[in-house]
Amino acid sequence: MPPPDTALSVRSLSDGGLDETLIDQSTRLLGDLITRGAALGWLTPPPRAEVAALLSRIATADEGDAALLVARHEGHLAGFGYWERYARPTIARHADLTLLAVGDTWQGAGVGRRLCGELVATARRAGVEKLTVDFRDDNVRAQSLYESVGFRRYGVLGDFIVAGGRRFDKMMYVLDLR
Ligand SMILES: CC(C)(COP(=O)(O)OP(=O)(O)OC[C@H]1O[C@@H](n2cnc3c(N)ncnc32)[C@H](O)[C@@H]1OP(=O)(O)O)[C@@H](O)C(=O)NCCC(=O)NCCS
Repeated sequence: MPPPDTALSVRSLSDGGLDETLIDQSTRLLGDLITRGAALGWLTPPPRAEVAALLSRIATADEGDAALLVARHEGHLAGFGYWERYARPTIARHADLTLLAVGDTWQGAGVGRRLCGELVATARRAGVEKLTVDFRDDNVRAQSLYESVGFRRYGVLGDFIVAGGRRFDKMMYVLDLR
């Protein structure tokens, strides 16, 4: 059942908000998506320890260097996403929206749009100049979402991604926040 917009809470997580339940829920959400073939960069579900390390790195980053946003509906994790600044000093004005994932049962109900909009808003507030994102060329949902938010294509790496015995192009998009 799609969550009514008002019942969905989206909040930014710092270190204090990252508890064991959220790590369990995130591991399950990612695992279910990847098992069904979602284009998230993993071929098999990441182990809990990997998800814990990833989320903890983002949640403990200095303010303005990264943001982890989670969408919840009645205690359930509907989706989450994060952006992170590039590490090299010469490109640290910019950041990458590295992960955006909405659980299967919540897809198509506006959760991804809410998360994406708020990720962009937090990046803008943090002074990020260019926010990049990339996705697999068959991911029409992601493409249509990012284009509707204002991301524009700046490159394509042909046959870059190998999954399920097939090759896919990597689509590279950017949103200029200046
Ligand atoms: C891509 C993803 C984040 C979108 O989140 P979502 O909650 O399903 O999307 P929303 O309901 O917020 O819809 C946002 C937009 O996506 C597009 N969209 C949604 N469902 C779609 C569909 N079935 N076909 C094509 N476009 C679709 C539309 O542009 C939609 O905008 P609209 O509501 O104004 O029409 C989500 O489907 C997901 O997690 N997929 C698996 C993981 C993934 O691919 N992540 C992105 C990797 S970069």
